[in-house]
Amino acid sequence: MNTNGVALIIGAASGIGLETALMFAERGARAVIFADQDLDAASEASDKSKSIATAAGYETMAMAVDVRYRVSVKVVVEQVKMLFSRIDYAVNSAGIPRKTEADTPNVDESEYNILHEINAKGILHCLQEEIAVMKSQEPAYVEGRSGSRSIGSGSIICITSLSAIIGSPNSIPYTASKFAARGIIKSAASENLRSGLRINEVCPGFTNTPLLQGAMKRKPEIINQISKAMPLARAAAPEEIASVVHFLAGPGASFVNGQSVVVDSGASIFLGG
Ligand SMILES: NC(=O)c1ccc[n+]([C@@H]2O[C@H](COP(=O)([O-])OP(=O)(O)OC[C@H]3O[C@@H](n4cnc5c(N)ncnc54)[C@H](O)[C@@H]3O)[C@@H](O)[C@H]2O)c1
Repeated sequence: MNTNGVALIIGAASGIGLETALMFAERGARAVIFADQDLDAASEASDKSKSIATAAGYETMAMAVDVRYRVSVKVVVEQVKMLFSRIDYAVNSAGIPRKTEADTPNVDESEYNILHEINAKGILHCLQEEIAVMKSQEPAYVEGRSGSRSIGSGSIICITSLSAIIGSPNSIPYTASKFAARGIIKSAASENLRSGLRINEVCPGFTNTPLLQGAMKRKPEIINQISKAMPLARAAAPEEIASVVHFLAGPGASFVNGQSVVVDSGASIFLGG
């Protein structure tokens, strides 16, 4: 189904967020806002979206945001609301990988704190500001074969990870940050079930983005790990995650709320072999 509203993508300069933002432009969004701490890359992506957008009068802009600071997210969300009157879709994809590996007794506390600040508190800040604005919007409607139906006042998708669902060795700071994010998302969704706002989560497995490419450079064995752990013996292409995010955000998923969709080619139920 077409997503013809206003989409705010946070973490839109690279990887999953970038691909999702471009997909919204391609699939009929009337405006896509590319927010990221890397403003240059977000601006480049926003420009690129003009050549693939399909909505007449398509609008786009790039904005700087640092999800570690609630006030930074607040400024972005309120400006988008002011400039475009409403936010139909918000996607929270900003995140960072682990930089080191350590078993439980040797977890580096500063890494733990940084990952928590961006991957968990960053999601909290995005949800706080998005909910405050999107909850009070007038509901949107779509026409289906069974008549017109409300699709609510907005839809939020948070990107976590397969590491929000299962543990893995030597990765407590990252895994804990993603489990925490998941808890934040579930709590926020449960508070809003009757508000007309849908909040869902997408949990990707290995995905071929600059984040994963950086990790593979630091630790080339990841390439082997991917072929063993992933049933399709490869990482996902970013568009394989973005298309799930886009579906879940859009009117085709108007009855889906508070859910976690694991996009891992079945890795989480795979014992190998
Ligand atoms: N690539 C994978 O294999 C994979 C797997 C599972 C989950 N994820 C998760 O998906 C999300 C997106 O990852 P990706 O692979 O697209 O990574 P990426 O590095 O390609 O993109 C992440 C984007 O987030 C931005 N960002 C980082 N910190 C920020 C901050 N404090 N404020 C604002 N923006 C910030 C970066 O500038 C970048 O543009 C992350 O949460 C990541 O943990 C990725």
